[in-house]
Amino acid sequence: MFGYEHDEELLTEVEDLRERIRELEAEHARGLRLDSVTGLLSARALRGCLAEECERAQRYRRPLCVAVLAVDDFEDLELRHGFKAGDDLVSAVADRLRASTRSHDVLGRTGGIAEFAVLLPDTDAEAALPGLERLLVDLELTGEGTMRAAGASMGIAALQRGMSAEVLLASARHALGESRATGGGRATVAAQGDAIIDPTKAPQREAIEALAVALLERDRYTGEHSEAVIEMAVSVARTLGCDAVEVERVRSAAILHDIGKVAIPDEILHKPGPLNDEEWQLMRQHPVIGERILRVLPGLGAVARMVRHEHERWDGGGYPDGLSGVEIPFGSRVILAADAYHAITSDRPYRAAKSHEHAVEELTRCSGTQFDPDVTAALIVHLGGRRQSGVISA
Ligand SMILES: [Fe+2]
Ligand SMILES: [Fe+2]
Repeated sequence: MFGYEHDEELLTEVEDLRERIRELEAEHARGLRLDSVTGLLSARALRGCLAEECERAQRYRRPLCVAVLAVDDFEDLELRHGFKAGDDLVSAVADRLRASTRSHDVLGRTGGIAEFAVLLPDTDAEAALPGLERLLVDLELTGEGTMRAAGASMGIAALQRGMSAEVLLASARHALGESRATGGGRATVAAQGDAIIDPTKAPQREAIEALAVALLERDRYTGEHSEAVIEMAVSVARTLGCDAVEVERVRSAAILHDIGKVAIPDEILHKPGPLNDEEWQLMRQHPVIGERILRVLPGLGAVARMVRHEHERWDGGGYPDGLSGVEIPFGSRVILAADAYHAITSDRPYRAAKSHEHAVEELTRCSGTQFDPDVTAALIVHLGGRRQSGVISA
């Protein structure tokens, strides 16, 4: 039997053990939240913080900015100097980040190789840029031993109304990709209009659909023509290797490419014959008017640009800006070719529809002058497939 004193000792010992277990549990939880090399938030914890910050910023209409930065050519450096030196460099970069940011900024890893994120609450891109650019200069002076003076690149994105945390982070990473593609060692701010379109975001899709209905009500032919162009444009974009986001942009631009025609007077829009010079001048303004309409909608900047240039020719002879070749946004080149095919094979007040063969001949004849040759080839392949499956009868 234990005496009274023994019971006391045992109880103290149990209490100590409990305390130790609590400490170990807390340590484990901290370990899950923190990156083991740098002590910054782990990628998972960072995403959680980002979601919370986005929610707060949207609710109180406060600005929020995200910067993603990465050590340039890190894999090369690691290959030459070893994993240990790589870890030391990453940890030195983290120290520099801690020293150069404000106490309420949030620092973490992103999951990318030698990649970090800085969340800057209550800060817009313009205010954040000078400090972040200075940070890049500082980082060039950072490094460990032989890996000293490694450069870094950065992408910055500001939260926009209705934007999700995922899209914000993706926009910043996209801008980082641009910094790297243009030589590295620099910061790129994601242009407001260039925000990655979130295809699941309903308000934008609703706005696009509402505009498409407005166009259909204004001019049935143009509305139906736009619908017909979508399928061809999307198929060509996919064939030529566009990712899902770019395909979505091309789809939106295809349905809205002639939205500017809502501002063209009826007597020109519905004229049962060819237009005179003066009327053409007005008609040729529809891509610019279309761009203006779309610029009003947040997140549609890239789509607006495609719409502005939907009548530029590959050889530079188009309008409104006379761009040529790859200067013309890809989506605009796709829409021009798909648009031509549909226009040729449709009945118009002043001429009858031409056959599928005739339209393909036209596309082939004008490939390399009016149309992008790659786009023309992909479109003809798509049309061939549709014909075989009986969709096109002419
Ligand atoms: Fe047009
Ligand atoms: Fe058109």
